[in-house]
Amino acid sequence: MFRAVLTDRLQAAFTAAGIELPEGFSPAVVIASDTRFGDYQSNAAMVLAKQLKTNPRALAQQIVDKLAVTDLVEKVTIDGPGFLNLTLSAEALAQQLAVIVKDDHVGVPQVKSPKTIVVDFSAPNIAKPMHVGHIRSTFIGDSLARTARFVGHKVITDNHVGDWGTQFGMIIHGWKTQLDQEKLKADPIHELVSVYKAVNAATKADESVLEVCKGELVKLQQGDAENLAIWKECVRLTLEQLEKVYGALDIKFDHYLGESFFNDALAPLVADMLEKGIATISDGATVVFSDGSVKPENDPFLIREKDEWKAAPCIIRKGDGGFLYATTDLATIDYRANEWKADEIWYVVGAPQQLHFRQVFAAAQRRGVTTKMIHIAFGSILGPDGKMFKTRSGETVGLLEVIDEAIERARTAADEKDQGLSDAEKDEIAKIIGGGAVKYAELSQNRLTDYKFSWDKMLSLQGNTAPYLLNAYVRTRSIFRKLDGTVALTGDLAITEPAERALAMKLAQFAENAHDILDDHRPNLLANYLYELANTYHSFYEACNVLRSEGTVRNTRLTLCEATSRVLKTGLGLLGIQTTERM
Ligand code: ARG
Repeated sequence: MFRAVLTDRLQAAFTAAGIELPEGFSPAVVIASDTRFGDYQSNAAMVLAKQLKTNPRALAQQIVDKLAVTDLVEKVTIDGPGFLNLTLSAEALAQQLAVIVKDDHVGVPQVKSPKTIVVDFSAPNIAKPMHVGHIRSTFIGDSLARTARFVGHKVITDNHVGDWGTQFGMIIHGWKTQLDQEKLKADPIHELVSVYKAVNAATKADESVLEVCKGELVKLQQGDAENLAIWKECVRLTLEQLEKVYGALDIKFDHYLGESFFNDALAPLVADMLEKGIATISDGATVVFSDGSVKPENDPFLIREKDEWKAAPCIIRKGDGGFLYATTDLATIDYRANEWKADEIWYVVGAPQQLHFRQVFAAAQRRGVTTKMIHIAFGSILGPDGKMFKTRSGETVGLLEVIDEAIERARTAADEKDQGLSDAEKDEIAKIIGGGAVKYAELSQNRLTDYKFSWDKMLSLQGNTAPYLLNAYVRTRSIFRKLDGTVALTGDLAITEPAERALAMKLAQFAENAHDILDDHRPNLLANYLYELANTYHSFYEACNVLRSEGTVRNTRLTLCEATSRVLKTGLGLLGIQTTERM
């Protein structure tokens, strides 16, 4: 990875020049935003000169004199007020290109100190509709897990399904009084959701129904055999169907430790927190208050009301003895830290749960948990009209429904295009394009902003879409098909044309990009990179004839095509998107 190597070299140059670096200052090289002056740049001399109150250009010159980079760089310049600009040599680019076509990780270095990272994502609630929040979580979480694994971390994916909520009082009552066995068999999630909705509506109209439901819930919690059996069956049926959904999306979980798994840990956990003085009894409930250790504006246990800071405690046990979502999360953290030895836990959950996680993380830290916990939040998906997103049937947005509709639309498009592919081939391609389009529409967005869902846009062959990228991949493959397997790439490389150079440069930067995504957990950085790569490839293909060239030129160009093919496939793979050889 050029950026890391160049940064190391720059640091060594500071040392060699005998310049002592102030605390907290570490010189860095970054990819140049304006490539007219070079491929990489550093403003380290300028920043340091300001701190030391010396002339930045003179300081830059001192460093350049000691900078040992001739094996990688053909030109170093000092520009403007003291920028260092570095232009890679064609040989260095060719070397990296040779690595990309051979290496299993297409030139992406592995992390030096791998961590154990638990990724908590998807986590729908049993018998409640899976909403768009779960869709976003599923795709973002899967992509981040794939990427972390790819760069060498030990990743554990865990689906923390909501299988023990208060909704079960209503579901059990509905199960006993109005369940349609036929419908349950045909589509269990759908039937459970409609039973839940019907009972929920009934409780609103009639207090006594609510009482009956509460009674069923208490019986379940006390271990009543009949209710437990119903609950188990609901969980089993739902998980069975969910696994089909995940299977269709090529998403796997290492574990499904739902909320119910932690039941037995809740009472001891609350007792422990009371004993340690982290929690106190207040109005009969057990709660965690602020401990005053951080500034009020950073304290998750305080809120500001009319110029005054008021307590916003986190409840871990209600007055009636019931436990809460936060209690389960605290027990889950213990488990992940102790059993799985997690260094980090990533929670891919919508922005509305921000306060919940801030409180839970703070409470866990007070209990001595050292695992780094990160809430990876996201905004909402809106329909084309800017309001909440709905599918064709106008119902709640089920993940499968969305995918099915995308595949259907991609299949129709394949028929319209008709390129002599068989029906089976078209089905297969439609699956890849349809599923890929939905995932890509999600993953190409900045996760924190709301985005508009648009079928036409996501399935378009133009623009920053999955079909556009898949098409670029297909083009790289078609060249090799034309050569009928008669081509063997040799190590004979010479990058000369500007379009070749631009492509080689872009390909080399995948090494950096694959790591950058994880800095702030943003798969959209990868999507943008792949889009730019596809564009760079198209420009190269227009400027440089591949098939009619000869010798080293031909070998170099074919190697560029092969490398593009590999990086596109790997990169799309990190987004959870499969590729197709034809479309
Ligand atoms: N089931 C929750 C919901 O649908 C999401 C769970 C997220 N994970 C967690 N550990 N709290 O809102």
